[in-house]
Amino acid sequence: MTTTQKFTYDDLYSERSEDAPARTVAHAKYDFAVAYPAPESLPMYGLIDALKAKVDSDGEQVAREMAYYPHALGSPELREFTSEKLKADRNIDVDPDGIVLTAGSGEAIALLIQAITNPGDVVLTEQYVYGGTLTQLRKFQADVVGTPIDEQGIIPEELEETIKRLTAEGRKPKWLYTIPENQNPTGSTLPESRRRQILDICHKYSMPIMEDDCYIDLRFDGEVQPSFRALDDSGIVMYVASYSKLIAPGLRMGYFVASPELTQRALSFKHGSGPNQFAAYAITGFLKEGLQKHRETFNPILKEKSASMQKGFADHFAGTGATLSVPQGGCYAWLTLPEGADITAIRDEVFEGGVGYLAGPNFAPDGTGQNMARLCFAFETPEKNYDGMALLAQLFRKHGVM
Ligand SMILES: Cc1ncc(COP(=O)(O)O)c(C=O)c1O
Repeated sequence: MTTTQKFTYDDLYSERSEDAPARTVAHAKYDFAVAYPAPESLPMYGLIDALKAKVDSDGEQVAREMAYYPHALGSPELREFTSEKLKADRNIDVDPDGIVLTAGSGEAIALLIQAITNPGDVVLTEQYVYGGTLTQLRKFQADVVGTPIDEQGIIPEELEETIKRLTAEGRKPKWLYTIPENQNPTGSTLPESRRRQILDICHKYSMPIMEDDCYIDLRFDGEVQPSFRALDDSGIVMYVASYSKLIAPGLRMGYFVASPELTQRALSFKHGSGPNQFAAYAITGFLKEGLQKHRETFNPILKEKSASMQKGFADHFAGTGATLSVPQGGCYAWLTLPEGADITAIRDEVFEGGVGYLAGPNFAPDGTGQNMARLCFAFETPEKNYDGMALLAQLFRKHGVM
């Protein structure tokens, strides 16, 4: 029997469900709105070769493991490699069983949020912060509050003031989320001295820190700073990182490290088994041989791309009062026009005109930042970064914001 009358779910949806149409991403001619690493540095054949080498050398093991669902914590070999990488790159001591691999670090963040957040709990973040985490915090009904930042990231004194003010209002913050290295969206890196101050403050107010180290491998200038987790192994730090920006988001591989008790709580929200085993073989094999070489390939590319965007800005925004942050790594620079210049309202027109960006309010817990935007310098070519900045300045003038 074929029934043509449309079945309706109108009275059947769960209370918690929301309309969430699958997002189709439109790309502007000069696409500064994306969050991708440099496409030309994706090691496609490196990954394929690594996978093939694994199948050739350990075929029986691969066949057996592929026939099972992956370990709940994810591939033992990739966890072992990640443990060594964390020691070498971040001076973090954690054994492979203390690492949970996830489908991108987005899943890691979601599991940890659910383990420590009740509806209404106050969670602090940087004043402007990665929109994906902001969305997840809101989904789990956290009361998200931004703490003031400058070009070096969170200002510790202001953090303590914010905690005191909220506590006096009866909204004592429960925990802090931060991206201390090559921050998304501002590109800042938090100096070690501030990290130590923030740890002291967090201990004083019994507030855990979720450290999101997503951009740790993407550094082309300046010095990497010690991670919160390396400075403090008391358990107060939840550490999250990803293979998305180091290799490719399409692999969907991230991870977290937390205290054993918290890890168990977080795992209670996990559905099914660990992440894709095939991707894990490819990542492990590729990085074991080629991590350093890969970094040496893509970081100079990022440096050149960042420099061309900076040059485009210097040549075409001079004398306008606009500023562009100067990142030492990551994928993003943060554009700020003088107060009152609303580049959020004209985003669609500027997109039609050829330049895509993500406007400030996408990153602001309080919805401010209408005169700000995140520009991704990692995706387009150096030439397009320069030309796109020239066109952006032209479009801002045309729309009367500059
Ligand atoms: C700071 C930060 N954390 C986490 C993520 C999530 O990345 P993934 O789930 O691909 O690991 C992103 C992606 O842009 C990010 O910028």
